[in-house]
Amino acid sequence: MKLLIDDANVEKIRKLVAEYPVDGVTTNPSILAKAKRNPIETLHEIREIIGQDALLFVQAVPTDTEGMIKDAKAITKEFGQNTIVKIPSIPAGFAAIRELKKMGIHTCGTVVYTPMQAYLVAKAGADYVAPYVNRIDNMGYDGVGVVKEIQNILTNNHMDTEVLAASFKNSMQVLSLCEYGVGAATAAPDVIEALVKNAAIDQAVDTFVDDFKKLGYGDSMAEILDK
Ligand code: E4P
Repeated sequence: MKLLIDDANVEKIRKLVAEYPVDGVTTNPSILAKAKRNPIETLHEIREIIGQDALLFVQAVPTDTEGMIKDAKAITKEFGQNTIVKIPSIPAGFAAIRELKKMGIHTCGTVVYTPMQAYLVAKAGADYVAPYVNRIDNMGYDGVGVVKEIQNILTNNHMDTEVLAASFKNSMQVLSLCEYGVGAATAAPDVIEALVKNAAIDQAVDTFVDDFKKLGYGDSMAEILDK
């Protein structure tokens, strides 16, 4: 499962990219609005931090086919290869995805709440499909269950489209989809950090260091060997 950061805060992204094995960054218009700065500058800075080989997801803002295609062309021209254009999974979006596929522009069908939406964007030729786990939960359905259903539909219909599970509230949701083997998940920095936030782990690491220091030879192997 690929793991991506769902945020546009460049400081948080810089820290996570330095420490965690992440595959890229996803954004949407609301996430970019939270950064409260020019969205193009934000996206350029993110691209610089993650590098040209990492995945960057940028959403087309218009809701009509022509506008989506225009945004998609402009986005890929500006942010280069490995930039995937998120297109809302509505009928105008299905048409845009089909045209963009012909142009060789990579897309992700986003705003996915139902398995049938996922099937249709996959059939239209999207590279990724992004179901919103937490938002589905909030509608009274089982978000993780819907994502698994989508993964089954893609697998059983021999479709190449990858699931990009999104909208997570907690790390357990990410973990159960990782166990299921979905293609990718994108989560906010606090959800990613919570995957390994555990007092027992920190205590175990501290104990190893303390025990070694108590030996009285030095604080590290290198310190002893360099003497
Ligand atoms: C990512 O592709 C989605 O746009 C995002 O995860 C939605 O998250 P939210 O439900 O927390 O806004």
